[in-house]
Amino acid sequence: MGRRILLEHDNVSGIETYEVYRKQGGYRSVEKAIKKMSPEQVVEEVQKSGLRGRGGAGFPTGMKWSFIAKPEGVPRYLLCNADESEPGTFKDRYLMEKIPHLLIEGMIVSSYALGCNQSYIYIRGEYMWILDILEKAIAEAYANGWLGKNILGSGFNLDLSVAPGGGAYICGEETALIESLEGKRGNPRIKPPFPAVKGLWGCPTVVNNVESIAAVVPIVNDGGEEYAKIGLGKSTGTKLISASGNLVRPGVYEIEMGITVEEFIYGDEWCRGIANGKKLKACVPGGSSVPILPHYLVCKTATGEDRLMTYESLADGGFASGSMLGSGGFIVFDEDQCVVRNTWNFARFYAHESCGQCSPCREGTGWMEKVLNRLEHGQGNMRDIDLLAEINKKIEGNTICPLGDAAAWPVAAAIRHFREEFEWHVNDRETSQKRNYGLVKEPSPIK
Ligand SMILES: Cc1cc2nc3c(=O)[nH]c(=O)nc-3n(C[C@H](O)[C@H](O)[C@H](O)COP(=O)(O)O)c2cc1C
Repeated sequence: MGRRILLEHDNVSGIETYEVYRKQGGYRSVEKAIKKMSPEQVVEEVQKSGLRGRGGAGFPTGMKWSFIAKPEGVPRYLLCNADESEPGTFKDRYLMEKIPHLLIEGMIVSSYALGCNQSYIYIRGEYMWILDILEKAIAEAYANGWLGKNILGSGFNLDLSVAPGGGAYICGEETALIESLEGKRGNPRIKPPFPAVKGLWGCPTVVNNVESIAAVVPIVNDGGEEYAKIGLGKSTGTKLISASGNLVRPGVYEIEMGITVEEFIYGDEWCRGIANGKKLKACVPGGSSVPILPHYLVCKTATGEDRLMTYESLADGGFASGSMLGSGGFIVFDEDQCVVRNTWNFARFYAHESCGQCSPCREGTGWMEKVLNRLEHGQGNMRDIDLLAEINKKIEGNTICPLGDAAAWPVAAAIRHFREEFEWHVNDRETSQKRNYGLVKEPSPIK
């Protein structure tokens, strides 16, 4: 059985209630931190743990915390990013629905470490029922003295509120989230200044993903060094993976980082292989924003090594033959799925969700959607495939926030690895409309 430290008790009946959560050892980390540790010591433990942000970018959490500015008399804020709108990612939803007190406990310890007296959980607007679950759990935490004034008689005060999101993917970008929380349209800000210096209401702010904040609980309970022993290399700890697509057993899994991708897809404990006896065609391992991998690069790297579920191994080979762990949205495609159609589908999403501030993203995502639509529906030509690559280059790196890159990378990767499938949509319009291309051939090794 794999190591479970976040979802250890997810099957315990009534774990969403305060009584049951507390009986399972809940809120121990708050007691330990507030009674026995200084805020700086908590930050130090998080640094030692090697925890990397679980929202997608994998930035070290302890380092981010150490950057927070501490001007005299100015409030600091911790914002939990629960906007979770990346296609293929639904792990935060599971954690909040099942074990809401774990997130609240993490918010209290993290707020203590950062010196925040008011913190917010910014939750995806469509997760309305989870907003109710969180509010109920927060009320229980207040009633039991874990929130409010003078927590555990320490003099530390904390108020925690839940704020429903603005209903747009862009509101998950940390500075757009801040704008939205301030009551404005969720447009990303130009950085610097970074939120750690000038965030919510112009005050120092840390934005962290739900899973990152929940992971602070076992880090404080067991110590950063113990946490760092789990996982592999710089990918410490466990990771929640949202597994979807043509799998026998899709779902949310907690894995110890370092298991092989093959084990994860085919292992009995995890996804149990491709559904309906089909073959694996491709995999998007980290949410819709990361490059797609063809079947021959999913379980092995280009140099023939086992591909592992770690930040490093999934990125092995760079964009030429690798991808990214991202937010852990692991989407699997079987031989019957059409890569052109899927690429178009993702492109539609990004064209719809671009906030429109930056021309390369506003115009480029729309053009990509139109061109892919043409190709998918048998109205494209060869020039379109190169046109997509050109649009990509114009977007990448030329926007305020990474939404543009997130839209461009999947298209570039799809063309890189599945060009013959795109060409088939041009050359054989009729057949390509009726059936799918099947597996792409592995290119012969470069001599
Ligand atoms: C368009 C866009 C959407 C994003 N959506 C989310 C999201 O839903 N949840 C999240 O945690 N991070 C999201 N991020 C990343 C955040 O900007 C930020 O890096 C993250 O919340 C930091 O938390 P972490 O360090 O704990 O990963 C998004 C980024 C972009 C560019």
